[in-house]
Amino acid sequence: MELQGKRIVLGVTGGIAAYKAAELVRLLGKQGADVQVAMTEGATHFVTTTTFQALSGKPVFTDQWDARMANAMAHIDLSRQADLILVAPASADFMARTAQGLADDLLATMVLARNCPLLIAPAMNRQMWENPATQRNVAQLVADGVQILGPASGEQACGEVGAGRMLEPAEILDAVIAFFTPKLLAGKQVLITAGPTFEAIDPVRGITNLSSGRMGYAVARAAQQAGALVTLVSGPVGFSAPQGVDRINVRSALDMHAAVMAQVARADIFIGVAAVADYRVANRAAHKLKKDAGGIPPIELIENPDILAEVAALENAPFCVGFAAESQNLEAYAQAKRRRKKIPLIAGNLIQDGFGGDDNRLVLFDDAGVHPLNPAPKSVLARQLIEHIANLTGKN
Ligand code: PMT
Repeated sequence: MELQGKRIVLGVTGGIAAYKAAELVRLLGKQGADVQVAMTEGATHFVTTTTFQALSGKPVFTDQWDARMANAMAHIDLSRQADLILVAPASADFMARTAQGLADDLLATMVLARNCPLLIAPAMNRQMWENPATQRNVAQLVADGVQILGPASGEQACGEVGAGRMLEPAEILDAVIAFFTPKLLAGKQVLITAGPTFEAIDPVRGITNLSSGRMGYAVARAAQQAGALVTLVSGPVGFSAPQGVDRINVRSALDMHAAVMAQVARADIFIGVAAVADYRVANRAAHKLKKDAGGIPPIELIENPDILAEVAALENAPFCVGFAAESQNLEAYAQAKRRRKKIPLIAGNLIQDGFGGDDNRLVLFDDAGVHPLNPAPKSVLARQLIEHIANLTGKN
């Protein structure tokens, strides 16, 4: 629950993306946020108040003169209760009114009266977004300290293609979580490896492992949310990069080694989460091996470079963190890897059911000793790991 106890007013304005705000309420609620929805009159033409009331478990406010507020000051009462006002979707009209400081409906008045931060996720036709008037309003809002999320580019409800789509609810959720995350790694450059590597046998076959990339991607996301500038060198996995993270796609251990070495000079912290193949195929076939060629084809293996050990041995090495997946003797094996690779911190995971799940069990080993973390989703463990790294690097 990454937003436990956070009070968020979600403003919904008139636009077809209003239907996605319903999913956003659900996602915010699942993370423990207390969501109060306020809609403009325009928004009610797209989605009913009943939808948001059912999803948030609270009456929805649309009217400044709502009789449910005994003191007739909905704009003050609602904004004072909030840690954050989030407006998604934010129409061009809402942005224009907010940039001007108008207070002509409940949401605009609440935004003007707020004493908490404001995040807005624009959604509009691409011509409206590109219009100089909208761009002037965006610049004014940014100058006023408003954080703008997106918009994304792509196909629009009107059939046109371009910038102006609202970010997906999961992306907005990520931005909200990032907003509340303490910036423990502000300005730090963090380089992370994740996922498996794939060592080709021939053009269509290879040796790989079952790393899904989930743990490494969770670490990348947590580091980014803690204010770091994150580069993620990723083996082949099935999902997209966390928002705000630069991803470099690689396939083999040699590719991963080259990408890391090209980036490492500017890294303050290096975290090796990838399950890198220890060996690659020395006699890789140029053409697909044929079964009827006679006999079982011999596969010769040759050792891959140890990326983590090599980074740790650099003259100006970043703070290095390793991972160790073990099915037994976790402490002994993880500590041995930490010593062999000469790194200050290693995260051991006891892998009994293979890789790939959403949860994990981590034990951190450093100079100060052994720090077991409670079994938890990888996102939670990643945040705890980042806090641990921030503590250790803060002391350097
Ligand atoms: O991707 P998931 O499904 O979420 O699973 C996550 C994970 C289990 C793969 C991850 O948490 C993990 O433990 N990764 C390390 C796996 C491992 O045991 O690696 P290793 O013992 O081969 O290597 C130890 C460390 O050296 C690791 O940090 C590894 O990235 C690094 N290494 C290893 C070999 C090599 N040639 N280069 C390296 O940099």
